[in-house]
Amino acid sequence: MSKRIGVLLSGRGSNFEALADSVRAGRIPDAEISIVISNREDAHGLLRAAERGIAARAIPSKGLEREAYDRLVVAALNEARVDLVCLAGFMRLLSPYFVAAFPGRILNIHPSLLPSFPGLEAQRQALDYGVKFSGCTVHLVDENLDAGPIVAQAIVPVKPGDTEETLAARILSEEHRIYTEAVRLVLSGKFRIEGRRVLPTTEPTTKPATKEDQEERLAGRAKRG
Ligand code: GRF
Repeated sequence: MSKRIGVLLSGRGSNFEALADSVRAGRIPDAEISIVISNREDAHGLLRAAERGIAARAIPSKGLEREAYDRLVVAALNEARVDLVCLAGFMRLLSPYFVAAFPGRILNIHPSLLPSFPGLEAQRQALDYGVKFSGCTVHLVDENLDAGPIVAQAIVPVKPGDTEETLAARILSEEHRIYTEAVRLVLSGKFRIEGRRVLPTTEPTTKPATKEDQEERLAGRAKRG
């Protein structure tokens, strides 16, 4: 049965499109993007998803506390029976409730070599600092900003004369490549986590969470109050 991916985005959606292309081309085998959700109704990525015939939904966050909002998004992801959540330019920090709903099953992409330059405007931060190399990182998501064990990274040179735009564009093409690699690895289950380290294995060590697993987990949490 194919694995179901949910993508969360707030803007342009080029990483979503790269993942969708990779699924279509079989670079991410036995998978489908089941739903794309945005906190912004005007996110370009939602249009691109709809054009591809993928369910696309805006869930606006206005006036909602973080966890109240996250409960709506988690409910939508569960309804879509999602196995893996991919953050692709989703401009919100997830609540502990969200992280616990998909343990080890949320990925994020960030345009720097973490732990350098977390947060907003990572490319600007890299230029201002004067580094000669920057890059991008795909990591598992925990409750902290741009933290969590690293699944994939790529190095990108900073060239003399680079602007934020030229550097961002060079990093972006690597983002598209490594996000596909990371999603393929995580969906294959062929990795184990040792502390902060994500180590590849020859055989799957994790099994994809089923909807039943998720329901059990959420029921367990409710019982514990
Ligand atoms: C990317 O640079 C990603 O690393 C960051 O936000 C940007 C999203 O771009 N988290 P896009 O919407 O995927 O084109």
